[in-house]
Amino acid sequence: MSLKNVTRNIRLDAIAGLIIICGLMGIDQLSAQTVWLDQLELSTATQGYGIPMKNKSIDNNTLTIAGKTFERGFGSHSESSLTVLLEGKATLFTAQVGIDDEVKGQRPAAEFIVYGDNKKLWSSGVMRLGDAARPCSVKLEGVQKLELAVTDGGNGNYYDHVDWVDARFETNGVNTFKTYSPVATVPYILTPAPPAEPKITGAKVFGVRPGSPFQFLVTATGDRPMSFSASGLPKGLKINIQTGLITGKLSKAGTYLIILEAKNAKGKFQRKLRVECGDRIALTPPMGWNSWNCFANEVSADKVKRAADEMVKSGLINHGWTYINIDDFWENNRDSKDQSLRGKLRDEAGNIVPNSRFVDMKGLADYVHGLGLKIGLYSSPGPWTCGGCVGSYDHEKQDAESYAKWGFDYLKYDWCSYGNVINGLPNNDPYKVSSLSYNGGSEINTAMKPFKLMGEYLRQQPRDIVYSLCQYGMSDVWKWGGSVGGNSWRTTNDITDTWSSVKSIVLDQDKSAAYAKPGNWNDPDMLVVGTVGWGNPHKSKLKPDEQYLHISLWSLFSAPLLIGCDMEKLDDFTLNLLTNDEVIDVNQDPLGKQATCVQTIGDLRIYVKELEDGSRAVGFCNFGFEIVDISYKDFDKLGINGQFKVRDLWRQKEIANIETKTGQLSLKVPVHGVLLYKFTLVK
Ligand code: GLA
Repeated sequence: MSLKNVTRNIRLDAIAGLIIICGLMGIDQLSAQTVWLDQLELSTATQGYGIPMKNKSIDNNTLTIAGKTFERGFGSHSESSLTVLLEGKATLFTAQVGIDDEVKGQRPAAEFIVYGDNKKLWSSGVMRLGDAARPCSVKLEGVQKLELAVTDGGNGNYYDHVDWVDARFETNGVNTFKTYSPVATVPYILTPAPPAEPKITGAKVFGVRPGSPFQFLVTATGDRPMSFSASGLPKGLKINIQTGLITGKLSKAGTYLIILEAKNAKGKFQRKLRVECGDRIALTPPMGWNSWNCFANEVSADKVKRAADEMVKSGLINHGWTYINIDDFWENNRDSKDQSLRGKLRDEAGNIVPNSRFVDMKGLADYVHGLGLKIGLYSSPGPWTCGGCVGSYDHEKQDAESYAKWGFDYLKYDWCSYGNVINGLPNNDPYKVSSLSYNGGSEINTAMKPFKLMGEYLRQQPRDIVYSLCQYGMSDVWKWGGSVGGNSWRTTNDITDTWSSVKSIVLDQDKSAAYAKPGNWNDPDMLVVGTVGWGNPHKSKLKPDEQYLHISLWSLFSAPLLIGCDMEKLDDFTLNLLTNDEVIDVNQDPLGKQATCVQTIGDLRIYVKELEDGSRAVGFCNFGFEIVDISYKDFDKLGINGQFKVRDLWRQKEIANIETKTGQLSLKVPVHGVLLYKFTLVK
């Protein structure tokens, strides 16, 4: 056969083949009732690690759950989210879900959730390695958008290789669906540069106990050099005119009103500070930095000092950011291979001995205080922390004394291995500890006991130590956290820098909102902006609008604001995000209320927070996949009636003056974004 004939025959074969394929497709299309998930475009999924995989696990192996292999499916990694546009054309979604066997030897946990139009339709419960695949079957009549989400199961997303296998839709005859991710990716700056004239920022109320060392930094934006003064300072306090640091001691309980002043070449600015000397501290949510979300087990005194230096150099200190908090891994570890963590756990007298990266805790505290900042650390009521370092079990009094002696101002106290104490296994392997860590805390007296104990010892110290409870929201901690001396309490499992993590945390906050008040804050976990990564540094995977929403909501929630990023890698966007004084004022508002969601319009959730001056901060938060473009007039739902001026807090400008009975406000809220407005009565 000539070359020409060969080519021609191949062409003819190809044409015949095409006809057969097209024919088959035609028949298939007409009768199509099943659409497999793996036939859809999966690249729009967001996930905690790797890329979305078709018919393979995240590490490119055959999908395998508890020894059983599967040909078809979607291999992902928590936190994971895939949105499918069904437009009401699917009737049923079925799948099996589980953790892939490829992570043998690790301790992953994850929860698979199906949302239909933002409502939770199904959840697997927390699954662990070796659990047999769990069947999922969800009726979908009328559902427009389906989200397949996987959370980290409450223990971080380490090795959470998660599989949706045999996943398919029964349809009304259509043979495909679109997947969708319309979230904008280009960062944009909203916070205007502060004026050259001085402007005092930060908290307007400060709590201290009689006799405790007083440290309050008057912070301000504006050109330097700047000088500070205070009139009405009670006896026992003095202000450093160059730095604005107020120090000393108050011996008598009472309310003291002080007028602060900041002055530079361009002018001067005065503001009131109310000092409440009594038994309450943390009267506004703590603001600062914590080492965990960036350094995790790689934290060191040197890194902590550098973070403190950056807090000053970056100018963040001028906006009220105060605490420099060391998380887990300043203590010695029971079984780490890293020799710098393998020293004596305690000395002969039982005093805790920091690891070799933290040779001088007092020196470190003095250094941080010298910058005008405050310093915090971390422990567990159990024998071991979540990372397997030594905890405070049976040494609570001694530890509280050590913290005070070193000069610490803040303790995060993390449940971790306390579950083992309840189960009578105080000296168990610290890794088993983490699997038990969520158990045993549901009985309220058991849950309260270890926190009460440490709370009492902290109160006995001759300095004020902010007490941050961390037990992930067990036994409705918001109902009793204050009674054990807690200034804040985590309401959720650990956050990660993914939309699904932020969203699931946000949707869970209203239940505890009524319990927030000055000195007692709900803590939806630390901030995930900037370069984060728990030892694997990367830019936050949250998109710019998601980050605006994250900061806005944490401010509306009166949540502690703890920056979790590498402070030496602050970029312009992150810095801008963290230096908007009008947004920070919402967080620091002295009334101390927590916003709740008062109205939903489709995927738009509207959060309202009452402020001390009678105005209201309102967050129009778009949780959907389409821009919300509406004319809004339900002002009575926001509790607003009368003539109001409306200020856009991110842009720091007045945008409307509205009579609420007749007026309308046009809203254009970006996908996963927010408009944060303040409504102030005009007359
Ligand atoms: C838990 C906490 C985290 C962090 C780690 C440290 O997971 O929730 O915030 O403190 O422990 O091991």
